[in-house]
Amino acid sequence: MRIDKLLSNLGYGSRKEVKQLLKDGAVKVNDTIVKDAKQHVDPNTETITLYGEVIEYKEWIYLMMNKPPGVISATEDHQEETVIDLLEMEDQVYKPFPVGRLDKDTEGLLLLTNDGQLAHRLLSPKKHVPKTYFAVIDGVVTEEDVQAFSKGVVLNDGYLTKPGELKILKSGLRSDIELTITEGKFHQVKRMFQAVGKRVIYLQRISMGPLKLDESLGLGEYRELTEEEIEQLKNYQVK
Ligand code: URA
Repeated sequence: MRIDKLLSNLGYGSRKEVKQLLKDGAVKVNDTIVKDAKQHVDPNTETITLYGEVIEYKEWIYLMMNKPPGVISATEDHQEETVIDLLEMEDQVYKPFPVGRLDKDTEGLLLLTNDGQLAHRLLSPKKHVPKTYFAVIDGVVTEEDVQAFSKGVVLNDGYLTKPGELKILKSGLRSDIELTITEGKFHQVKRMFQAVGKRVIYLQRISMGPLKLDESLGLGEYRELTEEEIEQLKNYQVK
C-alpha cells in the first residue's frame, strides 16, 4: 500500500497533509526517512514511525461495547449521540459500525466492527443467531407466558415470532426474566411482552451467539475482542 494512503486511512490527515508530514521527514520506514508519498510499504512486515512513534496498523477492528442508555446504534446522526461518538478517535479511524441495533434506551452488548462479511453473517435472518436479553417487566410473568413464548407470539403488526426461550428469574409485580430470541424485529422483546399484556421497563442484551457481555465493562465502555472471541464468532454455527 502507498505510504500516503496508509497514513491518511489511519487518520493522520488528508493525503495533502500526509504529504507534508513526509516532506518534513517525520515518517520513517524501518529507520529510514521516507519522503516519497508514492512509496509502497507493507505494514505487516515493516515498522513505520511518525515522529518516532510506531504506527499500529490493522485492517479489521472488533469491539465489544456495553451500550449505555441514551445513545443510538447508528454511525451518524445530526441530533442524537451515537455509539460511534463514544469511541476514541484511534478506533473511529477504522470506521466500525454497530452489528444490529439496540433501542436508544436499551443497554448492554453491542458488537462494532468494520468487517462487513462477519456482520452480514451474524445478522442474516437465515442464520438465527440467538440473542439473550435480561429484562425487568412491569407485571407478573407466568408459566403461561413461558409456554406462549415457546410457541411464538403474534406482534401488533400480525407477525408470528419464532419461538423464544423465556426464563423467569423472579416473578412478582415486577419480574426479572431472561429471553433468548433468534430474530431481530424492530422492538422485538418489548413487543413480545406487549403481546402478552406486559411492559418492559428495563432491557439489557447479555449475549449474542458465542459472545457474552464482559461484566467488567461499565456503561459506555468498550474493549477489543480477544483473538479467541473473534475466532468463535467467525466459526459460529447455529445448532
Ligand atoms: N428488543 C427490543 O425491544 N429492543 C432492543 O433494543 C432489542 C431487542
